[in-house]
Amino acid sequence: MQSIRLKGLKISPPLFLAPMAGLTHSALRRLILEQGGIGLLSTEMLSAKRLPMENAALSPYLVRAPQEIPLSYQLLVSRVEEVAPAIAKLHALQAEAIDLNLGCPAPTVRRMGAGSRLMEEPASVRAIVAEARKHTDLPLTAKIRLGETLDEDKLRDFCRMLEGEGIDLLSVHARLRGEPFVRKPRWPWVGKVKGWVNIPVVANGGIFSVEDAKNCLAQSGADGLMIGRGAAISPWIFAELAHAVYGKGKEVGEVSKPALYLRFIELLEESFLPERRLGRLKEFSHYFAKNYPFGHHFASGVQSSGSVDQARERACAFFAKSEAPAGDH
Ligand SMILES: Cc1cc2nc3c(=O)[nH]c(=O)nc-3n(C[C@H](O)[C@H](O)[C@H](O)COP(=O)(O)O)c2cc1C
Repeated sequence: MQSIRLKGLKISPPLFLAPMAGLTHSALRRLILEQGGIGLLSTEMLSAKRLPMENAALSPYLVRAPQEIPLSYQLLVSRVEEVAPAIAKLHALQAEAIDLNLGCPAPTVRRMGAGSRLMEEPASVRAIVAEARKHTDLPLTAKIRLGETLDEDKLRDFCRMLEGEGIDLLSVHARLRGEPFVRKPRWPWVGKVKGWVNIPVVANGGIFSVEDAKNCLAQSGADGLMIGRGAAISPWIFAELAHAVYGKGKEVGEVSKPALYLRFIELLEESFLPERRLGRLKEFSHYFAKNYPFGHHFASGVQSSGSVDQARERACAFFAKSEAPAGDH
């Protein structure tokens, strides 16, 4: 499939940025846009409870440049009462799509009764989705994991329930709730989900290269691909996949990683107040370091920096010394 149409929104190519707390803010989104190939951008998860009170001009979670289109906003909901005010706010922010987080396994999120905890409470999810559907005509999507244990009947009923309540697209992180990133994702299970519903299904988990993307599509038959950590390691991955998998855009040539890293710092400086920059640079650097065989030196130099200027100096010193970056990670 070369594109996905959700109500008025065309997602072409069907390449999605995964929501990632601390990472998928305005600076990374703009860096990705500048490389090309992205079909739909995403915010990090936003607390539906707090969202109505957030000041869009000041909140680092809501900063957005005009070119960041189309942008999906992900809601972390724990109670049905939070839905309508959160959606009203997203309409005011001119969201192009709204995603519901039903997959986050973080203990703090689960204790709130949100994220993957909700997959164990289909009745609550049904009420939340119905309420969301009642309050928006925007594309409404849901991001799920495979569940607590491999249980086809339970997962099928859950996915069909989501479709029945008006979810327009499902993205499936192909792991169980407790499975760590080192475990191979279960891409064929995304194919099972696709067989159960009539809405588009997007595969997520463990895609870091063109080869991974092709394997995932072969194993899942998914309608699109969602990339998380791979987007912070190689922000050009969408451009690469657009060309190699969907035949869109030009072949990606040699990418200057030092120039890209410095551009990221520039975008952080444009997007955030000084005190909001260093933490975000450290988070990004943790992933970006994986481009280099001795990336742990790079990452630890940035992690122990006391300022963005110091981190930049250390990064530049590393780039000057480092041999050619490894093409593999
Ligand atoms: C640092 C980090 C933060 C994340 N935050 C979120 C989030 O806010 N919402 C969400 O649904 N998933 C979140 N995830 C999960 C990702 O969206 C994605 O499902 C997961 O990383 C698997 O995809 P990948 O292998 O392409 O990284 C996060 C993952 C990471 C690594």
